[in-house]
Amino acid sequence: MSDPTRTACDAELRLRRADADGLKQALARLNGKWEARLGLFRGNVPPPWWAEGLAVQPETRRQYELYLPVAEFCRDLRALAELFFACPSWIPSVLRRVGPGATCGEGRCTPLSLPDIWDEMPPALAGRVSFADMELLPLFCALAAPARFGTAPGRYPEQQTFLQEWFVNVSRNGLRVLDLGCGVGHGTYEVLALAEACGVRNPLAVGVTCEPLEAWMAAHRLLPHDPLRTSQFERFAPAVPVRFAAGDAVRLPVRGTWHLVVCNGLVGGEYLCGPETYEVLLSELERALAPGGLATFANPFHEGRSAHVAAFAALARTRGWTVQGDVRLLWLSLS
Ligand SMILES: C[S@@+](CC[C@H](N)C(=O)[O-])C[C@H]1O[C@@H](n2cnc3c(N)ncnc32)[C@H](O)[C@@H]1O
Repeated sequence: MSDPTRTACDAELRLRRADADGLKQALARLNGKWEARLGLFRGNVPPPWWAEGLAVQPETRRQYELYLPVAEFCRDLRALAELFFACPSWIPSVLRRVGPGATCGEGRCTPLSLPDIWDEMPPALAGRVSFADMELLPLFCALAAPARFGTAPGRYPEQQTFLQEWFVNVSRNGLRVLDLGCGVGHGTYEVLALAEACGVRNPLAVGVTCEPLEAWMAAHRLLPHDPLRTSQFERFAPAVPVRFAAGDAVRLPVRGTWHLVVCNGLVGGEYLCGPETYEVLLSELERALAPGGLATFANPFHEGRSAHVAAFAALARTRGWTVQGDVRLLWLSLS
């Protein structure tokens, strides 16, 4: 029987069937190369080696980099990804080129060592340098949506509580919700489900995220690398009007205006930071927010990023936005 995950992948991601043999050969070659390197590492570096739950120390990084340089490993995975995906934009950004020509998300968070990548992998893929053919989709998905992104239902209860009241009061027919930086989409489904539960008729939600693979996982309610988080989609009705698109929050790939913009875990974080970026985002929001609309920003960041979020809020005020809440949860509106 064919694997449904792989079948979906073949159809949706347009795996180049003509290259299937080429992919297998490339995989076998790289598996051999990296297993040999791992053998050298184990023969020369005494334990303890990387293990789940152990903090990666600078010395660990140094030793792994000597035998298993992460940049080369990523380059090799990228070569596989080029054979796997018909369109290069589907390649997880962590494997894409860093540099001036890089677009949304490219080259972000360049990993310092292989253990830093393993730290974010599900247990079945972590600690490994070789993979079976069937593991490539889960591997690429894990790289596109690392655990640190943390998208999950129930992540922002305070925001939900406020929105519940807002939805009851707006009770607008055809409410349009835009979720920027939606990740794998649990939050997008959740906000739509809440709107429906509050009696909003015919709502529509669109999630935008810069990783095409994340948008694909969200649309299919399937995380091939993470069955537990896949099962969390079950709480949302399958036929809800939620759509996903790959794109940049500062160059919106959607038209029209939106009554509610949700933008959680993005502004002031490591991927969307700095006064110029905030200016562009705010002007996009000024264009995209419907009259009387609301934009909300929940921030799961550590204390170290509070100043960045505060700077975003201050800039919004100078542009005439009404700003409420604090750096953990901001509400922006235009009068
Ligand atoms: C920390 S995760 C937050 C996910 C989700 N909103 C949540 O709070 O659970 C940030 C997400 O934003 C996406 N992202 C990063 N930069 C982006 C950009 N410029 N435009 C759109 N999405 C972006 C990442 O791929 C990632 O999925």
